[in-house]
Amino acid sequence: MFIATTVTADLNADKQALLSFAVAVPHGRKLNWSSDTPICSLWVGIRCSPDHSRVIGLRLPAVGLLGPIPANTLGKLDALQVLMIRSNGLNANIPPDVLALPSLRSLFLQHNNLSGEIPNLITPSLAFFDLSYNSFTGEIPLEVKNLTQLTALYLQNNSLSGPIPDLKLPKLKRLNLSFNNLSGTIPLSLQKFPKESFLGNSLLCGQPLKQCPGIPSPSPLPSQPYHKKSFWKRSSSKIIIGVAVGGFAVILLVIVVLLLCILRRKGREDRESSTKGKGTAGSRSEKSKEEYSSGVQESEKNKLVFFEGCSYNFDLEDLLRASAECFSAAWFSS
Ligand SMILES: *[C@@H]1O[C@H](CO)[C@@H](O)[C@H](O)[C@H]1NC(C)=O
Ligand SMILES: *[C@@H]1O[C@H](CO)[C@@H](O)[C@H](O)[C@H]1NC(C)=O
Ligand SMILES: *[C@@H]1O[C@H](CO)[C@@H](O)[C@H](O)[C@H]1NC(C)=O
Ligand SMILES: *[C@@H]1O[C@H](CO)[C@@H](O)[C@H](O)[C@H]1NC(C)=O
Ligand SMILES: *[C@@H]1O[C@H](CO)[C@@H](O)[C@H](O)[C@H]1NC(C)=O
Ligand SMILES: *[C@@H]1O[C@H](CO)[C@@H](O)[C@H](O)[C@H]1NC(C)=O
Repeated sequence: MFIATTVTADLNADKQALLSFAVAVPHGRKLNWSSDTPICSLWVGIRCSPDHSRVIGLRLPAVGLLGPIPANTLGKLDALQVLMIRSNGLNANIPPDVLALPSLRSLFLQHNNLSGEIPNLITPSLAFFDLSYNSFTGEIPLEVKNLTQLTALYLQNNSLSGPIPDLKLPKLKRLNLSFNNLSGTIPLSLQKFPKESFLGNSLLCGQPLKQCPGIPSPSPLPSQPYHKKSFWKRSSSKIIIGVAVGGFAVILLVIVVLLLCILRRKGREDRESSTKGKGTAGSRSEKSKEEYSSGVQESEKNKLVFFEGCSYNFDLEDLLRASAECFSAAWFSS
């Protein structure tokens, strides 16, 4: 019995708050809210908790609401979780009690003409925060840094100025600060967002926008694996290192093969001169020529002749060009 009366009291309080909002705010399309109809079942745009004890959702998109949001109306719906009054003609400041609603999770106020500063008392339960396409001025309140549940922050097309706070919010997945008058460096914590999140702020600089004048661009964070630019940066440096190491290894190999070739040839000459028999050497070279022409094509023969007649006067370009031939020669002669 006691519970039933407190429930009715709370729902009545919500009802009174909504009725005073409807009375104070002119609206083009008439809201069918009336004190003698049941709020949870027959009022347009209202959603109640499952036990019909509180109003938890208010959705009035594009119903022609005009003028300021009065204080002590929507700000009294203290069980409200979703407030959607986008695409209306609401103007002037947001009363501070609206952003402070303790259960508020989603706030859709975009496409109105709200102005003044964004109130700095913001409920920590807020997850979806959309004030885009209004006329807000002043700075982004530092209190946004404390909204640990925040997944989306849309502030585009306002007239906000000043720096962007360093928002280390692990759940933040969507961000749009485009078309304001924000200035300074984009904080490291937000550089993982695309440049489309920051367009139209001519005084803003740093990743992902143009580099700040005089400030070296900070190295990309390893904790941002989905950052496309840093991914490619890291990949391309890996490729460059790989190519450099590979090239060096090839040159080294060519030098080693040529050294082997010199040593072998020298040893052979020594042996040949010690035998003193010129005929032996002649038959040997004839035999090797036969060997090669039996299975190896004409071009290969040419390469081997080139190799056998090593003059060792190659410059680097010759070495690189010759490396392939030297490899095959080394294979055939071993
Ligand atoms: C108010 O409008 C809603 C939706 O248009 C409708 O479901 C509801 O029955 C209406 N309430 C009254 C009291 O006419
Ligand atoms: C928005 O409000 C400003 C005054 O705050 C006014 O000058 C402007 O015309 C309004 N814009 C619209 C689209 O109603
Ligand atoms: C954020 O919260 C902490 C602790 O809850 C508090 O000390 C700090 O002042 C808050 N910061 C802002 C900018 O509200
Ligand atoms: C947002 O601002 C940009 C730049 O001023 C403008 O081109 C665009 O039309 C605006 N969007 C809306 C929906 O007003
Ligand atoms: C943008 O902000 C700068 C200061 O940061 C100020 O000087 C300038 O007047 C502002 N421009 C507009 C259009 O508000
Ligand atoms: C942010 O809003 C602007 C203006 O409406 C738009 O051009 C841009 O694509 C949006 N950025 C993102 C990341 O959605």
